[in-house]
Amino acid sequence: MTKLVARRLLIDMQAPISRHWCAGDAFRTAFMNALSMSFPVGEQFFIDSVREGLHALPPEQQARFAPEVQGFIGQEATHRRLHDLFNTHLEQQGLVNGWGPRALRRRQYPDGLDARHGLAATAAYEHFTSILADWMLRHPQSLGDQDPRLVTLWLWHASEESEHKCTAFDLYRALGGNEAWRLKWFGRISFFFITDALRQTVSNLRRDGTLWRVSTWRSAAKFLFGTNGVVRETLPAWRAYKRADFHPRQHDAQAAIDWLAQNSDQYRAIARPAA
Ligand SMILES: [Fe+2]
Ligand SMILES: [Fe+2]
Repeated sequence: MTKLVARRLLIDMQAPISRHWCAGDAFRTAFMNALSMSFPVGEQFFIDSVREGLHALPPEQQARFAPEVQGFIGQEATHRRLHDLFNTHLEQQGLVNGWGPRALRRRQYPDGLDARHGLAATAAYEHFTSILADWMLRHPQSLGDQDPRLVTLWLWHASEESEHKCTAFDLYRALGGNEAWRLKWFGRISFFFITDALRQTVSNLRRDGTLWRVSTWRSAAKFLFGTNGVVRETLPAWRAYKRADFHPRQHDAQAAIDWLAQNSDQYRAIARPAA
């Protein structure tokens, strides 16, 4: 079991966000904004899936998983709240969130669906978030230094994603989830995540008026495929999920552990909500 604690971040998210807050770079800002737009709906889905998975376990196993699930829910609920505030600033800048409503429509499952479907989808999303998180923690300069408050927000979120990356996966396994469905959901989620991220980034750039600038696409190529680029560096970790002996714990979490230890003045531990 992983010991998880929710943390209240000591930053002011009421203060506005500048248009190109991420290193003054239109592409990077649009991409990060797109991710933020997906979080409130996505994280509510993860919370619901994990809670439902916990309740589907036999009572003796529930007691074993309950503290970790409570920590998971506390962390995701705090992320969701802060990114809701973040997204309000984006709305005021004229950006339109298409990803959140699309994800909400997609999750209209029929009643009574096996809890393992939601858990397999959540485990797949959590793999994406944890490998992106780890990349970000190893390259914090990609966030720039224009707004230290936002650097703290993203690195705190990244650290907690790394911390709780095993929860949905372990619940899926504890409920007897099989390999075929685990991989089927990973394929689906990979398709949705990549296409949704691209669509939302392009939409953000179009509304920002920077979609057709050469500098935008130069930055995109470097950020995604350059030396230390996101796609280039996370591809092996993405692929590892398909191995039969994969477990999220195999992915190094040291960058997150270090960030949390070195930035303890930026947050306070908070009481856990009930699962
Ligand atoms: Fe999160
Ligand atoms: Fe998460």
